[in-house]
Amino acid sequence: MPARIIDGKTISEQVNAETAAAAALLSSHGVRPGIAVILVGEDPASQVYVGSKERKAKELGFHSLKIVLPASASQAELLAVIARLNADPAIHGILVQSPVPRQIDERAVILAIDPGKDVDCFHPYNVGKMLIGDTDGFLPCTPWGVMELLRRSGIDAAGRHAVVIGRSTIVGKPMMALLMQKAAGADATVTVCHSRTPDIGAFTRQADIIVSAIGKANFLKADMVKPGAVVIDVGINRIADPGTKSGFRLVGDVDFAPVAEKAGAITPVPGGVGPMTIAMLMGNTLRSAVAAQRKR
Ligand code: GUN
Repeated sequence: MPARIIDGKTISEQVNAETAAAAALLSSHGVRPGIAVILVGEDPASQVYVGSKERKAKELGFHSLKIVLPASASQAELLAVIARLNADPAIHGILVQSPVPRQIDERAVILAIDPGKDVDCFHPYNVGKMLIGDTDGFLPCTPWGVMELLRRSGIDAAGRHAVVIGRSTIVGKPMMALLMQKAAGADATVTVCHSRTPDIGAFTRQADIIVSAIGKANFLKADMVKPGAVVIDVGINRIADPGTKSGFRLVGDVDFAPVAEKAGAITPVPGGVGPMTIAMLMGNTLRSAVAAQRKR
């Protein structure tokens, strides 16, 4: 039987509606959630992502600031912008779109962001809090979005074997931590596969839940999936497609049609994890604004 489609677009709309309602209430108490998104340079994919974040923030009633610096901007210039935003009481979340140009040290940029405004959850302070299971901090947007997709689809990871493919700092590592956390909806046994794992299929065939974040188009084939498994596709890969206006289209890490014939549930690309990432970013910004309101 074909898999149930986990519709990230619809689920993200539910999350966003909750965030917008909470933001309206908070605004009526004098604190309007505010986010600043900084783009350095003109990378076309980053321009699209930053535009979507700015648009979504406005849609939810947030104060939204987009700051674009030239590709030639120095590290000192970027750090000066961050220092100004750290001190701005109207801004509760600061995000520097990655990647940044070569002359800028991304680690220094992350460290410069006030951990209380680090809505990406990239600062080591917040990464550490997430790892120890501290629930009053931020959660990393994409892995948190995956956990919400599972929870809101009625899929409980407790006691299940989850296999994460990819060990990036943004997705793979925090995904592992959230899935294995001693917490409702989590409590999974987690295996992490990566570029040096010799036979990834040997692991994924044992998985009740597969989260693929490896960045290779159509990597996960049907023969790597146990019948009935839940398949979450975090990949966003551009492949050439002369039939489209742009000459390319976006696909995930999963060979979708054959895997959907075998899996129990699956996320599409686009319309799966992607819209959840932005929804959780707004959720973190709301959280930060709530904390600011409590301190008033
Ligand atoms: N580039 C790709 N994904 C992300 C993200 O989640 N946050 C930031 N800041 N940059 C990114």
